[in-house]
Amino acid sequence: MRIIEIIEKKRDGHILTAEEIEFFIHGYVDGDIPDYQAAALLMAILLCGMDDDETGALTLAMAHSGEMLTLQDIAPLVVDKHSTGGVGDKVSLVVTPTVAACGLPVGKMSGRGLGFSGGTLDKLESIPGYRSDLTVAEFKAQLQQVGLVLSGQSVNLAPADGKLYALRDVTGTVPSLPLIVSSIMSKKIAAGADAIVLDVKVGTGAFMKTLDDARALAEGMVRIGKRVGRRVTALISDMNQPLGRAVGNALEVREAIAALHGEEVVDFREHCLVVAGEMLLLGGKVDTVEAGIDLAAQTIASGAAWEKFREWIAAQGGDVRYVDDPIRLPHARIVETVVASRSGFLAHIQADEIGMTVVSLGGGREQKGDLIDYAVGVEIHVKVGDRVEVGQPLFTLYANDEGKCATAMQRLLRSLGFSEAPVVPLPLFYDRIQ
Ligand code: URA
Repeated sequence: MRIIEIIEKKRDGHILTAEEIEFFIHGYVDGDIPDYQAAALLMAILLCGMDDDETGALTLAMAHSGEMLTLQDIAPLVVDKHSTGGVGDKVSLVVTPTVAACGLPVGKMSGRGLGFSGGTLDKLESIPGYRSDLTVAEFKAQLQQVGLVLSGQSVNLAPADGKLYALRDVTGTVPSLPLIVSSIMSKKIAAGADAIVLDVKVGTGAFMKTLDDARALAEGMVRIGKRVGRRVTALISDMNQPLGRAVGNALEVREAIAALHGEEVVDFREHCLVVAGEMLLLGGKVDTVEAGIDLAAQTIASGAAWEKFREWIAAQGGDVRYVDDPIRLPHARIVETVVASRSGFLAHIQADEIGMTVVSLGGGREQKGDLIDYAVGVEIHVKVGDRVEVGQPLFTLYANDEGKCATAMQRLLRSLGFSEAPVVPLPLFYDRIQ
């Protein structure tokens, strides 16, 4: 078998066999296939698509590229959640300790930022000392002791996804349905969770721009999950504006900490409660989503979710002084507020532009291996549907470079659209697929 023939076959719109897909995955992980050929095949997949059999074969080949965890010896049922990626999406930071504090073990493998969308690992690493490179033994031990663990691909789980993810991030090959399905589901399958809640984002700040595409992605992941005997629920949620207010690594950790202390952070708290409610339902802790939402809200109100967060961060090497006193987290040298120069109703936010603005400030990667500036980011003070008056603050920008800050300001202003007529606020969720 030769990789060039596989690239040409997919380029010409043909269906790849499971053997060809396995050959590609093994060759790429072993280093026999270079990045440029892998990137060419990824682009061919993005342009020509894959059918269900190909996507299933790709998912399983990626899942089996490293160790496959079995967690039954630790807990009878382990739950997980995963988002398809959005702007300001720090839901995992709140939901996983909340669910774990309800007595449902959460073992999660997360990713880094991808294109305009932030990554949970990057956010967590803004806490000094936090280790996302756990070994399998450490992953399992922490799951047993703390009931919550959140690691990166370093645990030799689905290493193919770790490599491909970094390559896709910088080669324009992120928004492909089979690549997203296989990326997410390979990690979930390898990490051994029995029940998985998928948060499928749709809108300007998501990889899926239309409800039809988001449904196809959600259904694709639910089908793959079923094939391998996992309980899966997919929520389709709005990403036509950043979630909550903060976008940027340390800023988002601060916002998540505020939510864990019970603060109402606009749409963010409600979103977290619904995802937690679904996890508690899927994990058998409650009989209805509503009961799950109530239990999650009580767990936050009692302080138990916050205590679990601290315990988890400490167990993973994070310095809890920084989360106890979040002002100590990395902060930017330049802080500028951008105010409205016109009045009107906020009609739309180009959320991917906000994500890319944060990347351009240094909060994400433009090239593989770029270092992250955890301090930079944006706070957005308005939501679609809000009435805005001249002089009202729209954004607060956090930067460490004057030139980048000035460009970012212009870019942020261009990302908003206003209307004279009232605008209906956006919903949080559109659909639920089981
Ligand atoms: N999240 C992932 O883990 N992978 C993708 O491809 C997109 C979002």
